[in-house]
Amino acid sequence: MSTYTVEDPRKVTTRRLAEMKAKGEKIAMLTAYDYSMAKLIDEAGMDVILVGDSASNVMAGNMTTLPITLDQMIYHAKSVIKGTSRALVVCDMPFGTYQGNPIEALASAVRIMKESHAEAVKMEGGAEIIESIERILSAGIPVMGHLGLTPQSINKFGTYNVRAREEAEAEKLIHDAKLLEEAGCFAVVLEKIPAELAVKVSESLSIPTIGIGAGAGCDGQVLVMHDMLGINKGFSPRFLRRYADLGTVIEDAVGNYIKDVKNSDFPNESEQY
Ligand code: KIV
Repeated sequence: MSTYTVEDPRKVTTRRLAEMKAKGEKIAMLTAYDYSMAKLIDEAGMDVILVGDSASNVMAGNMTTLPITLDQMIYHAKSVIKGTSRALVVCDMPFGTYQGNPIEALASAVRIMKESHAEAVKMEGGAEIIESIERILSAGIPVMGHLGLTPQSINKFGTYNVRAREEAEAEKLIHDAKLLEEAGCFAVVLEKIPAELAVKVSESLSIPTIGIGAGAGCDGQVLVMHDMLGINKGFSPRFLRRYADLGTVIEDAVGNYIKDVKNSDFPNESEQY
């Protein structure tokens, strides 16, 4: 039984997100990678479902988001789209598919839109990739930006620590956020930056900011589904609120099933033909 009642049952669009920011209504975003979870999340009333390249970590077991391919992201996004009717579905552009040049970036984004039917793409970075963002936007594909801790650059950063604590990096982030807005991005994710900086960016933009580890001043929040449901048990950064302990629920259920099979308690008479 859902504990949240959707007040506006209309399909969420990029335009609707702009209206939400203008009205001061917070935006809820969560990742999903498959049909069944997307269906549950959509029915619970989520505004935006992100087919994150965090699939590389939580679905494929990689240490970073770098190895996931365009084909794999399209596979995940296609499954999510089939389970979604209200939420806006945004698909991450994976590492190496947009940084090279705008033509290659557009080709990657077009494949995502055509083959998965996702409704928008997300890209990590600011000034460095602005030409690729502009090219994709010029084809009518909505783009969500992503600044602060950008996990595709982990090998450059060297750590997953909070970003933009120093003035120079904070200034660059503010500048990049403005560039993304001016280019026509419909929203921007702010990952792991000081809350005060996130407030400053959110107040200076007319497009919504969606925070993860960026404090309460953002226009919306995003979490990785496996983290907030307690499936990814070893991951517990300060910003993460756990809404369930599904890891334990699953382990207990599977343990009970194994016990019942071993003891010949399953199936019983009513569970056979
Ligand atoms: O890939 C992802 O899940 C993300 C979110 C953490 C914003 O980019």
